[in-house]
Amino acid sequence: MLVSLTMLFIACSGGAKRSDAITLDAGIERKIDSVMAGMTLEEKVGQMTQLALDVIGEGGNVYYSHEPFRVNHAMLDTVIGTYKVGSILNTSNNRARTTEVWEEIVRTIQQRALQETGIPVLYGIDSNHGTTYTAGETLFPQAIGMAATFNVELMEEGSRISAYETRASNIPWTFNPTMDLGRDARWPRQWESYGEDAYLNAQMAVASVKGFQGSDRNRVGSHSVAACVKHYMGYGVPVSGKDRTPATISESELREKHFEPFRASIVEGGALSLMANSGIVNGVSTHADYRLLTEWVKEDLNFDGVIVSDWADVQNLLSRDRIAASYKEAVKMAINAGIDLVMEPYNTAFCPTLVELVNEGAVSMNRINDAVRRVLRLKYRLGLFEKPYWSALEYPDFGCAESEAIAKAAADESITLLKNDEGILPLPGNARILVAGSNAHSMRTLNGGWSYSWQGEKVEEFAQDYNTIYEALQEKFGADNVRYEPGVTYKMDGTYDQENEPEISKAVAAARGVDYIVLCLGENSYCETPGNLDELMLSENQTRLALALQETGKPVILVLNEGRPRLIREIESGAKAVLQLYLPGNFGGDALADILAGDVNPSGKLPYTYPKYEQGLITYDHKPSQNIDGRMEGAYDYGAQTSVQYPFGYGLSYTTFRYDNLTVSQKDFAPGELLTVTVEVTNSGVVAGKETVMLFSSDLVASLSPDVRRLRAFQKVMLEPGETKTVTMPLPANDLAFVNAQGKWTLEEGEFMLQVGTQVETIRCKETKVWDTPSR
Ligand code: BGC
Repeated sequence: MLVSLTMLFIACSGGAKRSDAITLDAGIERKIDSVMAGMTLEEKVGQMTQLALDVIGEGGNVYYSHEPFRVNHAMLDTVIGTYKVGSILNTSNNRARTTEVWEEIVRTIQQRALQETGIPVLYGIDSNHGTTYTAGETLFPQAIGMAATFNVELMEEGSRISAYETRASNIPWTFNPTMDLGRDARWPRQWESYGEDAYLNAQMAVASVKGFQGSDRNRVGSHSVAACVKHYMGYGVPVSGKDRTPATISESELREKHFEPFRASIVEGGALSLMANSGIVNGVSTHADYRLLTEWVKEDLNFDGVIVSDWADVQNLLSRDRIAASYKEAVKMAINAGIDLVMEPYNTAFCPTLVELVNEGAVSMNRINDAVRRVLRLKYRLGLFEKPYWSALEYPDFGCAESEAIAKAAADESITLLKNDEGILPLPGNARILVAGSNAHSMRTLNGGWSYSWQGEKVEEFAQDYNTIYEALQEKFGADNVRYEPGVTYKMDGTYDQENEPEISKAVAAARGVDYIVLCLGENSYCETPGNLDELMLSENQTRLALALQETGKPVILVLNEGRPRLIREIESGAKAVLQLYLPGNFGGDALADILAGDVNPSGKLPYTYPKYEQGLITYDHKPSQNIDGRMEGAYDYGAQTSVQYPFGYGLSYTTFRYDNLTVSQKDFAPGELLTVTVEVTNSGVVAGKETVMLFSSDLVASLSPDVRRLRAFQKVMLEPGETKTVTMPLPANDLAFVNAQGKWTLEEGEFMLQVGTQVETIRCKETKVWDTPSR
């Protein structure tokens, strides 16, 4: 029965990469045929509709429900009985629920759906860094921290645990992972994905999809969920830096970088769904972009899953982007572009509108059938027809100690040591410490947005059992040795960027009698548009606090707890040590304490370039002209210098590593060949440590100005003092190709430089190849 219909195609990237198969299950397809044969147009359109939970909540209005949450049966009758809605999303009143409450909610919905249409509802939720909306779940570092671990096994394991805990909440579908390239430090969602690099994003996204979905995409097990790769694509580089504003991306960059994580997670990871970018790329609203949605994904990748819209983004074609003159026109544009399921989230008008469009011939029945087939396929793949709801008791490992240990390990490996002058860290066990700063005593700032609520403002209510930085340092160094005086605090009931009147002198006074100051600065929690900013510099109060504490002469250890790299150039030189925590989750305080005490050796590496100046935003894979000594003959200087605070991939350890003997299997190569790169790495220090070995390539001359460097492979290895390991990294020649100005993959004859650590080697491509296919 299985795999009688196989669509085979060659995985795009790298000659050596396997030929992957996306497999349709003939049994499932037959069942879909028979269900669809009996469906009315209204029922089909219902399957393409997704509404928010509050629409069917008792009391309030469609946006809010009374507490405790109860399903309003009259509204459920309207939503399921009248409109035959096939999907529900989100939590109610923007707060986390227990697994028991989730069970009750989903059971009620499913029973009504089965009675009405016989088709179970597809419930979807954001499980960002854990099961965001379930009380007691395991919260990992946010994606930017997971990227900093450079540990794909940890990523996969983290997603596996999140999948289990999402299923424990009776929900089989998550809107994750997020793989928007975070190439602009100003963007408020930079921390939701894996940083600035396409390869790192792709590796992490594939690992996450596998962790969520397990190994059989046609039979997603009861401990796994369907992933939704988002936000397709180019969402992370808005020209203004503000969320949901237009991006301008060259055709070459679009395919070569932004598309890559999506390609990889669909082709190599088998992702079952995809969410469209809310924004505008090169003038085209993605929700109306037939080329990107239908041609690039459904046709070129043979994607057989569901494309879901983002929140109210069909409506946005009308009210925000103004490319449609009416709601009806907006619906027509989005469905004809390739959107299969519309996240409305409050507007049932979508259903009659789409029915009307079909009846008028403006949307074809074929398009409807294709969309409905995809939605039903996902429901079958998830096993919802056999088991639409279940008991939370079937998930005894929800939030268990083993899962929390993985979250702690991820926090340990994410924290990135950026400065350690005179080896001031680790601190002696009897150190007397002042813990100061706005982020010193807050679970909310450790977790960030998408934690128990959208903006993270309810974290303290749910995360009382975990340690803030101050609490963790008290446990580690002894309560008598650790004192707390924040100096600056956030306005917890204000917007994320508001602070209370600072009390800097109090913090300065508290520094008397201590040996070290651990100064915890950064940002309060936020996500999406409410996290927009006008100034990337760390807040004025926090900067003043840092300068005042540095003036005391006590060594200041600067701890950054922030979603994006806020500029610190005014205070960096006065800090003896700097650690980047990102948003490390519920175990961030403990992980930091272990690192400060030397019980854990830091091994995180920056997944983005840490900028130094507002006008110096740059990525590591920039063009030569962006940072060049361009002095020419004569009086004129055409140099462009861009200084950064810390480069991509940077991160110190308490030990040192030496690189030797870089070898490449062949110096001359042709397109399609597989090169093998080996290098010896030695722990040349006195403590054990983990090192991320990164392979970079530079195309020395190309017909389009080449990127100065590109990450092509990485491996994280553990080394005891004095130990040497030989690290082997396959490098498919085709991975060295770029996309030319006509949008075609191109590998050009000429020299490439490879670099691993301090080692470099030059190799040569013998012939040029230009691909006519969208993949290489
Ligand atoms: C976000 C998505 C999210 C969706 C559902 C939107 O505002 O852009 O990332 O999945 O809401 O919560």
